[in-house]
Amino acid sequence: MIKSRKWLLLLVAILAVFMLVACTEDTGGETDDSVQDPATEVESDSEDKSGGEVNIGIVLPTRDEPRWVQDEQRFKDALENSDYSDQYSTEILFSQGSSANELQNVETLISRGIDTLIIAPHDGDAAGAAVQAAANEGITVIAYDRLITNTEAVDYYVTFDSFAVGEAQGNYLIDHAEGKGLPLYLFAGAASDNNAFLFFEGAWSVLQPKIADGTFVVANSSEAEALADKAELTRDEQGRILGQVTTNWDPNEAINKAQTQLTAAGDEMKGDVFILAPNDGTARSIADTFAADSDITSYLITGQDAEMASIQYIIDGKQSMTVFKDVRNLVTDAMVMAIMLLEGANPETTGSYDNGAKDIPAIQSEVIVVDQDNVQSALIDSEYYDASDFTGLE
Ligand code: BGC
Repeated sequence: MIKSRKWLLLLVAILAVFMLVACTEDTGGETDDSVQDPATEVESDSEDKSGGEVNIGIVLPTRDEPRWVQDEQRFKDALENSDYSDQYSTEILFSQGSSANELQNVETLISRGIDTLIIAPHDGDAAGAAVQAAANEGITVIAYDRLITNTEAVDYYVTFDSFAVGEAQGNYLIDHAEGKGLPLYLFAGAASDNNAFLFFEGAWSVLQPKIADGTFVVANSSEAEALADKAELTRDEQGRILGQVTTNWDPNEAINKAQTQLTAAGDEMKGDVFILAPNDGTARSIADTFAADSDITSYLITGQDAEMASIQYIIDGKQSMTVFKDVRNLVTDAMVMAIMLLEGANPETTGSYDNGAKDIPAIQSEVIVVDQDNVQSALIDSEYYDASDFTGLE
């Protein structure tokens, strides 16, 4: 794991020197849509400025979650602001939650002649086939945000500190907990996403002692209760808990699970409750479900991604916190890396992640906790969002 990212400024400086890249206008006819399945909802942002080829291919998991639409926009912004937009070209494709689409997207990009692939996989294991296809063509593969597991065909990993995300969520609940026997509802992301385990591991690292000492009582997972005395869980043990509390990153599945588990919970698990929700999309669904239950007198709920809808929820007091992952940093890291590779330079990394097949050199970004107290400074003053995007902000 990585200890620091203090060299980010250096990379930004390098970015300014090499300065980049491509082009983001919607070019319509300039791409060959005939080879694309409409199901992939391919976003073709390439403009041919490099002799007929795309240099950097970007594959994102789904357009259905604001988180990834946000990444798309930040990639576009980074490229639009580039002084060297005539040197390289990029293309961004979405896989719409399907590993088959993802493989097809990668094949499309291979046929476009890419040298570097930046990819956030839908399913970390299943994406092995797609990146192997790229590696077979000598393409450098950068895993973006989500690790691609159990394959040697990944060269670099650009990510946030996902353990710290879960840790921050857990700590937020602990910092607002008073007394003993407080009902705690655990929810998690999709087991096909390595990050879901890291988030849960981070949260468990701080929540477990508070479950063991009786501050919290887990309301919706017999597996978590059975493991309450164990500080560090194996992947298999985490998997057993996730099996009971996963949302699969799907807000509708989150609603169903929250409703079922609330119905099954006894009266002593109602009242003032604490909810570990893994991200903003699921947090809003779960929050609405708990808010609608007349036996719930108050709830504290976590999130992550600083999605606009959740920032409004936080302002309105309907979601307690989010973990802000400044996608501008991740995009910068990925693009600097890609450009350095295109320029024949060796990208600097600050640590590594074991993906089950090898250690992947990695760059890691820090995260920031946001609640009502610092929405303004963290998100508005930093120009991540405009105050006018929200109601109720000065
Ligand atoms: C990302 C989160 C996102 C989640 C669901 C995770 O891999 O790190 O930011 O909310 O996937 O898409």
